[in-house]
Amino acid sequence: MCANKVKTKYVCSNCGAETLKWMGRCPQCGEWNTLEEQVEAPAPKSLSLGLKDDILTPAKPQKLSSIRYNGDKRILLHMKEVDRPLGGGIVPGSVILWGGEPGIGKSTLILQICHAMASQGNSVLYCSGEESEIQVKLRAERLHVNDENCFIYAGSSIDSIIKEAETIKPAMLVIDSIQTMYISGVDSPMGSPAQIRDCTSALVRFAKKMNISVMIIGHVTKEGNLAGPRILEHMVDVVFYLEGDRSYQFRVLRTVKNRFGSTAESGLFVMEGSGLKGIEDPSKYLLRNRSEAAPGSMVVACMEGLRPVLVEIQALTVHSVLAIPRRIAAGYDYNRMIILLAVLEKRVRIPFSSDDVYLNVAGGFRVKETAADLGIALALVSVKKDIPIPGGLMALGEIGLTGEIMPVSKIGPRLKEAVKMKFTRFLLPEGNRDEVTDFCKSNGLSGLLDSMVFVKHLKDAIEYIR
Ligand code: TYD
Ligand code: MG
Repeated sequence: MCANKVKTKYVCSNCGAETLKWMGRCPQCGEWNTLEEQVEAPAPKSLSLGLKDDILTPAKPQKLSSIRYNGDKRILLHMKEVDRPLGGGIVPGSVILWGGEPGIGKSTLILQICHAMASQGNSVLYCSGEESEIQVKLRAERLHVNDENCFIYAGSSIDSIIKEAETIKPAMLVIDSIQTMYISGVDSPMGSPAQIRDCTSALVRFAKKMNISVMIIGHVTKEGNLAGPRILEHMVDVVFYLEGDRSYQFRVLRTVKNRFGSTAESGLFVMEGSGLKGIEDPSKYLLRNRSEAAPGSMVVACMEGLRPVLVEIQALTVHSVLAIPRRIAAGYDYNRMIILLAVLEKRVRIPFSSDDVYLNVAGGFRVKETAADLGIALALVSVKKDIPIPGGLMALGEIGLTGEIMPVSKIGPRLKEAVKMKFTRFLLPEGNRDEVTDFCKSNGLSGLLDSMVFVKHLKDAIEYIR
């Protein structure tokens, strides 16, 4: 009798934790106002979507040696910037989650992937809960996608989508977006954690059962996490984030999780009138508008995944008329900038406390590495003192709170890229001296050693540009 009683529980939309009582704060993750009421139905009808088969014929343990593997049958998309982060193409039956802010280009990229699949003779079913068939068609026309075996379905019911997919048997199924989908048997509204979780779980089962790759598009919250329960990321095989500043055309496809490849790989794109185009040479793209030797401009070498990328940092300081001077950082961590300003003030006696400070990374790239510290500090000093940076100079190094310059990782690839982009002088951490010497000798760059200055402290680096 009790078994049929409708139960109510509260599920956290951030971490998926469940409680029996409503609370203002989630007891598990500590987020406020994230608990949502959920009525637990006795037995979800979504069981019919493959789950029942599993219960009727449960899996049996198999000997590892007897499991057969028919080689790597990945589908190459021939889109370098997507194939590489995927680990060499799409694995059939894999479930891939694509997160990103609204308007960043997720639907555009996925439609281009649909084209890449369809033009190789694989059928694709693109399901949109956000746009009508006509809207998808208009976008497809702009992207010059018009494939015979690309099916568009405008609808939000996962049950119907799975039914259609069982008939069409596409090689790839696209769900745009998971927040606009619902499944029968779950009483919560569309986009609620329970709906997102059950829809995804049905899709994962479907993908594995039919060996169909499923692309799930997901929106992100204002904090930049995928909306819905965290467990979403655990349920899928691959998680990508498409990132970038919408006022720029530059986009990065970052791998957060990949069961079939490395998460160190990323894809770089530029958003053009005809969709996202992979960037072969990111440094050249990001430095294309740079004018030489202006005070406050410095180029740093950052690692984007396994690739070195050169980006220009621009700094500006002006005397402030405000009681609390303004500090603005675009494309860079605000708190890291504050730390660098404090170190400059305390350790080398260059005060910024009565200046407004602006820092900008050109081209919409986001600098996240501490290897850029020295370059940024020199850009700040150069604009403050109005001294131009010597032409062709690149500085690399992490700055400690005492002002010491600490070594950076992967210095070899960074130097190689800098040489490729015609940089001729280098300020490098003393701690990298041996590694750099070995690298230059073994890469035929010994001539470069004469143009390198190794520094231990920030004051030595500032001395060099003064
Ligand atoms: P979209 O793929 O709709 O973003 P998402 O699905 O992540 O919300 O892309 C939206 C933006 O991209 C929109 O502002 C227009 C722009 N865009 C281009 O610049 N070029 C194109 O070829 C397309 C299709 C879109
Ligand atoms: Mg979209």
